[in-house]
Amino acid sequence: MGQSTTKSRRDFLKKSAVASVAAATLGSAPRVVSAASSVLPNKKADGPLVISSRNGQQSVLKAMELIQGGADALEAVVAGVNLVEEDPNDTSVGYGGAPNALGIVQLDAAVMHGPTGRAGSVACIEGIKYPSKVAKLVLERTDHVNLVGKGAQDFAVMHGFPVENLLTEQAREMWVRWRENLSNRDEYLPPHDPSDAIIGSDYVPQKRSWGTIHCSAIDLAGNISSVTTTSGMAFKIPGRVGDSPIIGAGLYCDNEVGAAGSTGRGEANLETLASFLIVERMREGDSPEAACLFACKRISDHTKVAHLLDENGRPNFNVQFYALNTAGEVGGAEIWGGNGKFAAANSEGGFLVDLAALYTRD
Ligand code: GLY
Repeated sequence: MGQSTTKSRRDFLKKSAVASVAAATLGSAPRVVSAASSVLPNKKADGPLVISSRNGQQSVLKAMELIQGGADALEAVVAGVNLVEEDPNDTSVGYGGAPNALGIVQLDAAVMHGPTGRAGSVACIEGIKYPSKVAKLVLERTDHVNLVGKGAQDFAVMHGFPVENLLTEQAREMWVRWRENLSNRDEYLPPHDPSDAIIGSDYVPQKRSWGTIHCSAIDLAGNISSVTTTSGMAFKIPGRVGDSPIIGAGLYCDNEVGAAGSTGRGEANLETLASFLIVERMREGDSPEAACLFACKRISDHTKVAHLLDENGRPNFNVQFYALNTAGEVGGAEIWGGNGKFAAANSEGGFLVDLAALYTRD
């Protein structure tokens, strides 16, 4: 993500400073809101609000601009993440996303609309640059929730989407390097006992990226919507579906409570339906941050397979959660952290907010 991330962060800071009433005291640095402060600086606490994973610093500003112009939260969050879906330098989402093990880019996305409670998603869709737009169409123009693979692509084509080559040169080279270094370090596991930390004779789990973008918003009418979109785990087994397109896992929202979404190792989230869990915890009174930390702890407690645990019995992977509630509070947490942040915006501008951490490394 190097060059583009630097550029987009610079743009984000510039726009944040313009919008910020406190720009003079904050200089050119982003305003960083500590995890303890769950309410962003805001003249109007019940005003519109947008949150996103950190790679959505432009997305939250775009969504907020549309919301302030009167857009529904669903339209706004999808337009926000479209900026990242079309960015060839973000290798975790949309065009330019890392391909699967066969070198084919397969994308997952989902949306949820608070006022109607409806959801739409696509999984393993190929050749369509904006899977979040197709997920929105599944919500709006079908009586279904999930469309997968060729069916999802055919549905997109029926609605006028072009089928494009999404494999950029950068992503293709990443894939070739991976193929050239293949050994027994992949996800095709031999029969094994769950307590077997060394699958087969010399299995060593690879470090993989699970980049994704999640974005949720509250619009001027107080309605909430969410979107999550991703190219999924880099070099995944073809056909693998992550958490992003699964309602309750990659995202969940309830107009009466709030919204939550995730990035990181989707398999852990699929087994815990943590975004739904977070919204339910907020319904019971947890702050967004406390609910996100609860979900991290749930995943940690849930993880029992030896090859996913470190020497102290803690997960050896990471998952991040982001949440907002109807009181205008935001919060996020990750399993492993210390310096993690997420993006947020309100009528005052853009912010980077601390992610709380379940575990930190010494
Ligand atoms: N969280 C994204 C994925 O696992 O596909």
